[in-house]
Amino acid sequence: MTVSSPIRFAVRHGGRLRGCLRVPGDKSISHRSVMLGSVAEGVTRVEGFLEGEDSLATLEAFRRMGVRIEGPDAGRVVVHGVGLHGLRPPDGPLDLGNSGTSMRLLAGLLAPQPFGVTLVGDTSLTRRPMRRVTEPLAAMGARVETGAGGTPPLVIHPVPGLRGIDYAMPVASAQVKSCLLLAGLYARGETCVREPAPSRDHTERMLEGFGYRLRRSPGRVCLTGGGRLAACEVQVPADISSAAFFLLGASIAPGSDVVLEQVGMNPTRTGVIDALRLLGADITVENERVAGHEPVADLRVRSARLRGAVIPPELVPLAIDEFPALFVAAACAEGETVVSGAAELRVKESDRIQVMADGLQALGVDARPTPDGMVVRGGRIRGGRIDSRGDHRVAMAFAMAALAAEGDVLVEDCANVQTSFPGFPELSGGAGLGIEVLTGEPG
Ligand code: S3P
Repeated sequence: MTVSSPIRFAVRHGGRLRGCLRVPGDKSISHRSVMLGSVAEGVTRVEGFLEGEDSLATLEAFRRMGVRIEGPDAGRVVVHGVGLHGLRPPDGPLDLGNSGTSMRLLAGLLAPQPFGVTLVGDTSLTRRPMRRVTEPLAAMGARVETGAGGTPPLVIHPVPGLRGIDYAMPVASAQVKSCLLLAGLYARGETCVREPAPSRDHTERMLEGFGYRLRRSPGRVCLTGGGRLAACEVQVPADISSAAFFLLGASIAPGSDVVLEQVGMNPTRTGVIDALRLLGADITVENERVAGHEPVADLRVRSARLRGAVIPPELVPLAIDEFPALFVAAACAEGETVVSGAAELRVKESDRIQVMADGLQALGVDARPTPDGMVVRGGRIRGGRIDSRGDHRVAMAFAMAALAAEGDVLVEDCANVQTSFPGFPELSGGAGLGIEVLTGEPG
């Protein structure tokens, strides 16, 4: 799973983006479709599944626990559910690669199983904090050990049973909430999770789609263990987090006009549209409809003159994965942009505050990191060389930066773009980005 071959993006500066594009399926929803399909009763058919390394790691993990899964074949996956009590012990540790979502959600689903299992990941995942899930799981009666410092591997030991808890999350995290709801399916009594601000609710929507009753009120969701999940059909919308790079690229490259089709518009995910509009972006939402259990729409984005703005902290959880793109937009915006309340960015696939500030500075931008955000004085970007630190979203954001840069941009360490956006160079290149993929050691 760990990708070692160096891949770099050499991106010619200038150009514009045009066309009607469909970005790959939503990563969060793809993970959940396989997780819930596996422990449902009956056959779940998924369309639009993301064939990226992260969601494939989840799929492979369930195969190794005895679930028969057909595909993916052009985004179609068929999961032959084994029911909540039908998983079998895997023959060794489950390698979840780069995927924090796989690890945190699986911790919740596997803590109540009658077998032990170890979850491991790549060097990035092995640095990420896991006590945020292991501590509330322990309060439910689970036994999940972390490595020193609260990081992976996670060693899950079987326990006689879990009990429901009422847990107030210190930070808004869909991964923590989902972990506890999945554990709660097996727990005695009621499991409730309270969040300080709305985080993505795909787990809640999909559990209801699989026929599980939830009690939802603002800031709180509860379920009672001991029910069952009934297989269903899942239509995965295009990932707004992947669309974000085109929203960025088309906004900053004069003469651009792009339509992104069937993008997931769950209101817990659309903060990037609001934030870009605050910077002056020209984004229109067309053809709004509901597909499966999620709202979708086509997004039309045309280039615009961006100006700095204060991004309200309330938008942070609603755009949590889009800050690499938003920081580049800020660098292209005239004046000052201030991001705060975003300390969570420091514990994503990389420290996205530091890595983005370093990259922007390498392009001559006045970008000052703060403990929980950044102050960017934008307007002009030079060309230069960027180390993406193996972070897929950092790599794609800086590739798009070339559209507005005064020189070419070389982005290092891009192999992990495969985790969320297979085909990014082809799709962006076809739309007008002057991107070339270089493999092998730098000459
Ligand atoms: C995700 C939740 C978010 C996000 C991640 C995917 C999910 O993490 O950053 O890429 O699928 O639940 P947090 O909920 O921990 O912020």
